[in-house]
Amino acid sequence: MRLLLPMPGNAAMAGAMGNVGGFEVGSLETRRFPDGEIYVRILSDVAGRDVDIVCTLADPDPQFLGLAFVAATARELGARSVNLVAPYLAYMRQDIRFQPGEAVSSHHFAKLLSGFFDRLVTIDPHLHRIADLGEIFTMPTRVLQAAPLLGDWVKANVANPLLIGPDSESAQWVSVVGERAGAPHAVLEKQRRGDRDVEISVPDLSRWQGRTVVLVDDMISSGHTMLVAARQLAALGFGKPICLTVHALFADDAYARLLAVSDAVVSTDAVPHVSNGVSVAALLAGASAIA
Ligand code: R5P
Repeated sequence: MRLLLPMPGNAAMAGAMGNVGGFEVGSLETRRFPDGEIYVRILSDVAGRDVDIVCTLADPDPQFLGLAFVAATARELGARSVNLVAPYLAYMRQDIRFQPGEAVSSHHFAKLLSGFFDRLVTIDPHLHRIADLGEIFTMPTRVLQAAPLLGDWVKANVANPLLIGPDSESAQWVSVVGERAGAPHAVLEKQRRGDRDVEISVPDLSRWQGRTVVLVDDMISSGHTMLVAARQLAALGFGKPICLTVHALFADDAYARLLAVSDAVVSTDAVPHVSNGVSVAALLAGASAIA
C-alpha cells in the first residue's frame, strides 16, 4: 500500500489525502541540532513501498535540506519509489535572467528536486515562459488544476458573479473558473515594476455593473496584485471584491491589508492558512492513486 510521509506542517493534508485515498500515513521525527542543522528520522517502514513525501513548498529555503534528507533516506531504506507531493511548488517565477548575472532559480530548483525524487505531483505551478514542467524537470511531473474546484466554490457561494483575473497570465485559470461557475470572466492588464509595485489597467466592464466581482489568481504573495486590482474596481463602482486564490502565501501583513479592501479572501488548502476554504486533498489523493 502507498505510504504518505508528511514533512512538518503537512500532517493535516496527508491525513486528509489518506482518508480520501485509503493510504497509510507514516511519520517522521525531525528536530534541529543546537547549531541549527537538521536531524531527520523515518519512523515508518518504507522498504518495498511507494512513498509519497507530502511537503507544500511555501517556505522552501528552510524546508529543502530536511526534505532532501528524508527522500535520500527513504531510498536507502529500500523504498520502491520516492515521490514528492508538493501542493505548492516554489521558485517557479524566476524563469528567465532579467538582469545580467541573475540565477534562473526555477531551472536550478527543478534540477535539485529531480535529483532526489522519482516523480512530482503539484497543483497550478506558476508557468509563464515555461509551457510544461518537463522543460525543466528531469523526472516525470503531474500538474493538477484547482480551477474547477474554485469554480464550484463560486457557484455555491456567490450570486451573480463576475470572475476577473488581474493579468493576462491569469486568463488560463479564470476562464475555467468562470465556465464552471456559469459566469462571465474578464482579465485586466498588469505591469510589474518591482516586488511590491504593480500597475493595473481595467478594460470596459460597464456591461457587468451590479455583478459581484471575484478576483482570481494562482497565488497571493505580497498581495499587491490583488490590492491594486481591488482598488481600481472599487473606483469604477464595483463593490468590494471577493479574492480567490490557489496558493495562500501572504507575505508579511498581506492578508490583513487585503481583507481591508475585500468582502472575503478565500484560498485552497494547498498552503495551510486561515483563509483556506477549498480542499485539494481529494485532487491530490486521486493523482497519487494512479501513480
Ligand atoms: C504573477 O504573475 C502571479 O500570477 C501573481 O499575480 C503574483 O505572483 C502575485 O504576487 P503578489 O501578491 O506579490 O502581487
